[in-house]
Amino acid sequence: MANAEQLRKEILEKTREYYKVAFPEKTFSPGETYVNYGGRFFDHEELEYLVDSSLDFWLTAGRYCESLEEQLQKFLKTKACLLTTSGSSANLLAFMTLTAESLGERRVKPGDEVITVAAGFPTTVSPSIQYGAVPVFVDVEIPSYNIDISQLEAALSEKTKAVMVAHTLGNPFNLKEVHAFCKKHKLWLIEDNCDALGSTYDGKYTGTYGDLATCSFYPAHHMTTGEGGAVFVNNPYLKKITLSLRDWGRDCWCPSGKDNTCGKRFEWDFSQLPKGYDHKYVYSHFGYNLKMTEMQAAVGCAQMKKLPTIIERRKQNHKFIKEQLLNYQDVLTLPEAEPLSDPSWFGFLITVKDNASFSKADIVKHLERNLIQTRNLFAGNLIKHPCFDGLRNRGEGYRVVGDLKNTDSIMNNTFWIGVYPGLDESRLKYMTDKISEYIENESQ
Ligand SMILES: Cc1ncc(COP(=O)(O)O)c(C=O)c1O
Repeated sequence: MANAEQLRKEILEKTREYYKVAFPEKTFSPGETYVNYGGRFFDHEELEYLVDSSLDFWLTAGRYCESLEEQLQKFLKTKACLLTTSGSSANLLAFMTLTAESLGERRVKPGDEVITVAAGFPTTVSPSIQYGAVPVFVDVEIPSYNIDISQLEAALSEKTKAVMVAHTLGNPFNLKEVHAFCKKHKLWLIEDNCDALGSTYDGKYTGTYGDLATCSFYPAHHMTTGEGGAVFVNNPYLKKITLSLRDWGRDCWCPSGKDNTCGKRFEWDFSQLPKGYDHKYVYSHFGYNLKMTEMQAAVGCAQMKKLPTIIERRKQNHKFIKEQLLNYQDVLTLPEAEPLSDPSWFGFLITVKDNASFSKADIVKHLERNLIQTRNLFAGNLIKHPCFDGLRNRGEGYRVVGDLKNTDSIMNNTFWIGVYPGLDESRLKYMTDKISEYIENESQ
């Protein structure tokens, strides 16, 4: 009888064969094939790694999680990477790290303020609200779609403790100014890097400037693990807090399945616990369990090999679309990269100008009718969503600086189309042709 290793080899060979049969290359038939805004970019390797991890049947965090954390941290050049269940849980963990009692005066307490934007993704903001901190919303700029740094000083109060914002659709925000503002006022900076893996600012990857940064591996993102995310952190003390919060709040840092990494498991002394109480069961924070599983990480390890290609293709696709649409700037605002940045774009943002003879809704309908998938810039204006009804009606729980004019304009006039590597030139050209066709018909 074959041994386990031989069988594993055969199964993996069969998996490779299965991939070829089950996922043949999709030909593009204009007007019949759906042109998605994003999607999984994978081949037989992802399937093989996934099956390989399933044959280990370790299930919880193990060798693949360890490897993915190491690879990501090496890629971004950060001191630590902690895998999570999603980008949203990474945001939750990053934010809650800053609430740890042990941070003393600098910790974020309920009632403290966190500067952010309303033209963003909800889970960049929800951890603050859930905890009882107060998000302070400032406007964004168009066409960078990033935080308007001229409003930072106006947003500041004696209660401000942090800035938590995303690099919108992969376009780095003005890290130089935001970082300097945080330093000047001793504020924490959390970069929501969920849409920007591989973007650089002033020669360094985004996700490495803030005290903490987050990433999402949901299928539409640059790389995927199905559901999944990560927190990046350089400061070892913050890392210890994030790790504890991610892993039930425990004080012990042993990986799953390991004991006594500290070498003094039964020798610790905590004032209220019996002397030598098992360190594995000592809790220093009110934590969660937000660990990634082994099978998700296995897919991530295969995706890491493709990441440089993915980033390059996203940049090329963005450039291609922009070149094709340059002639329509009288009616469309096209996206601009933040100065000093080289974005690893998540999507191609388009704002329909006020003087256009058509609305965003009109052109979006036209594109969707032609099987071109479109997306809104997340929440548009987050404050106008039903989740804010209670707070808005009671006039509490958040603060707004200025009139959020651009945020409202984004809600009404902005949409985006895909740039993911699954879009080849024929699909990209089809998308831009349908946009040109519509504008030209409308202006006749
Ligand atoms: C900016 C931003 N932050 C956070 C998230 C949440 O990530 P996830 O879907 O993995 O929870 C997303 C998701 O698309 C996002 O775009």
